[in-house]
Amino acid sequence: MTQHGIEHLFTDTVRDTMGSGVYGDWRSIQNADAVPLAFGFPYPESLPNGELVSAAESLLAAEPDRALQYGGGDRAAGLRDVIVDRARDRGIDCSTDAIHLTNGATRAIDTVCRVFLEPGDEVVVEAPTFMGALGIFRNHGATVTGVDVDEEGLDVDALAEDLAARAERGAPGPKLVYTIPDFQNPTGVTMATDRRELLLDLAETHDFVVLEDDPYGRLRYDGVDRPPLKALDSADRTVRINTFSKTIAPGVRTGWIVADERTAAQFDRIDAGGEPSFTRGLIDTYCADGRLDRAVSRLCEGYEERRDRMLASLDAYMPPDVGWSEPSGGFFVWIEFPDGTDTEAMLPEAIDAGVTYLPGSFFYAGDDGDRFARLSFSHAAPAAIEDGIEALARTVSDGVPSTDGRLGRGR
Ligand SMILES: Cc1ncc(COP(=O)(O)O)c(C=O)c1O
Repeated sequence: MTQHGIEHLFTDTVRDTMGSGVYGDWRSIQNADAVPLAFGFPYPESLPNGELVSAAESLLAAEPDRALQYGGGDRAAGLRDVIVDRARDRGIDCSTDAIHLTNGATRAIDTVCRVFLEPGDEVVVEAPTFMGALGIFRNHGATVTGVDVDEEGLDVDALAEDLAARAERGAPGPKLVYTIPDFQNPTGVTMATDRRELLLDLAETHDFVVLEDDPYGRLRYDGVDRPPLKALDSADRTVRINTFSKTIAPGVRTGWIVADERTAAQFDRIDAGGEPSFTRGLIDTYCADGRLDRAVSRLCEGYEERRDRMLASLDAYMPPDVGWSEPSGGFFVWIEFPDGTDTEAMLPEAIDAGVTYLPGSFFYAGDDGDRFARLSFSHAAPAAIEDGIEALARTVSDGVPSTDGRLGRGR
């Protein structure tokens, strides 16, 4: 007898993950009356509407027959040169053949998984980490394990100990280690340079790929840049992902991968056929004449003001038993509430009080993170950020027991 429908023909991996959350589902956490501190959306005035209209007009005038055609024209092809220059600014010397263009960083993570992961392979992630990546690794049937993050980023010594213990007992190691070294999502912390070097040593000793995801690296508001893992890596162990979502706009959803040329060729092959060449030509045109660099400096000013307002407001309004990270860049502050706090259960109350955030549990592979929350200072206006923090402080002030903050008290 034939079965009704086609669900029984799904792959085992799809069947195993069917009940889990969908990327983007959490967007239901919003309320028109609440200050939006939940999502890493750029603030509305930062979106370059006018410049993109001019770039589109200029592109269509310059390449009327090719800009909208399959494959695009010279401008779409030129985007790889823009990216080689950007990589060089961060100390990465690569050719255009080492670049694979993607529809954003999220899709880039998926492409890397399609090239490297078999169901059952292990991926080590930071605990906590970007929830979108967790979903993708699960969709590929990976086993995801977390290693703690502290003020200096991923605890690479703990990873080293774990890997050494496994090697001793003949247990397999991970295929990929996924890290967001600069202004990490969700904690905002940056990995120390000596940890970066040790992670690359471990990759060689224990034979894994370092997957470096760096959407925020150019959004630094104070302190000095740390070298990207890809820049420190002489053994071609690192696959580096980046995106224009945070420096131009999420809606252009264009990102890229820098790898060695042989690996990039496989990314090109596996992804072939879906290139939005008009968008790529548009970005290449937009980036000409140093426009992107000027835009990034303006963004840094806008985000720095918002970060400062958030940290000052936390200091002014939060009870003394609440701690938070102090990021030097990026979009996020990570809050640690006292033991016993459940930030998922508290969210409806916070929304009623006038603020949204993301509960910490969203960012862990296992059952952790209940007393943490991620706050984004990227989206709301500075005065609204202060209102939001005041509303959050009101929500937590009653009945929370005291504890020491692992990420430290604020300033
Ligand atoms: C670490 C990290 N990777 C990837 C993304 C998504 O990038 P994209 O918008 O290019 O898909 C984000 C932000 O949303 C992020 O924080």
